[in-house]
Amino acid sequence: MSEHKPDELRGHVYDGIEEYDNKLPNWWLFILYGSIVFAVGYWLVFHTFSIVDLPRARYDKEMVAASEVQLARLAKTGLTDESLALMATIPAQVEEGRQLYATYCVVCHADRGQGLVGPNLTDGFWIHGGRPLDIHRVVTDGVLSKGMAAWGRQLGPTRVQKVVAYVLTLKGTEVPGKAPEGLPETAAPPAAAAAPPTTVPAAAGAAGSG
Ligand code: HEC
Repeated sequence: MSEHKPDELRGHVYDGIEEYDNKLPNWWLFILYGSIVFAVGYWLVFHTFSIVDLPRARYDKEMVAASEVQLARLAKTGLTDESLALMATIPAQVEEGRQLYATYCVVCHADRGQGLVGPNLTDGFWIHGGRPLDIHRVVTDGVLSKGMAAWGRQLGPTRVQKVVAYVLTLKGTEVPGKAPEGLPETAAPPAAAAAPPTTVPAAAGAAGSG
């Protein structure tokens, strides 16, 4: 019944099953050995000697480069609330902003933005306005009479934008700390909607403040 002509049978039988001793096709062997060689090469190039970045690292670099381009374009067209808010969604920008914040701002605004000498940046109250451009203006020009430096001079425009992007990610996180100062922001802050649902008691900051 079988139209396949048995070339040669191997000399064993298991449970009544016999096996032909056919040579594997060359194209099949080529793929097998080829993939073994490729795997060894890949391992050496990517993991052992790190000659080429892993896809993840390359992706991160591309994201940084792309956001730098975006930043340069924004700097030309002028900043808007939207462009700053957009920047606050780019992880690479926010990460640089976080580092700048940790270096220059943390002494007065505390590690999570809850405020020390400077006001709480996480609540819904702002002395100088809570819109992205308001925050950008305060950080750039400072409030010299109150001890807030004009960071525009010291950091330059690009780094100010990054640190503002980071401040926008703190906004609305409602970390209990320094009591609210200034006026409540009338419009719901956009960052609050995007923030993970934390259930910090809202009254914590206000309690006992006169
Ligand atoms: C030496 C202390 C100090 C440092 C450092 C400092 N700030 Fe401030 N910051 C203040 C004070 C004080 C105020 C409140 C000014 C006022 O009362 O008008 C303030 C206000 C602000 C405001 C406005 C808050 C509001 O309610 O309107 C923002 C935003 C801000 N700072 C961001 C930053 C950022 C970003 C940095 C780092 C680049 C920074 N600050 C570094 C002391 C500081």
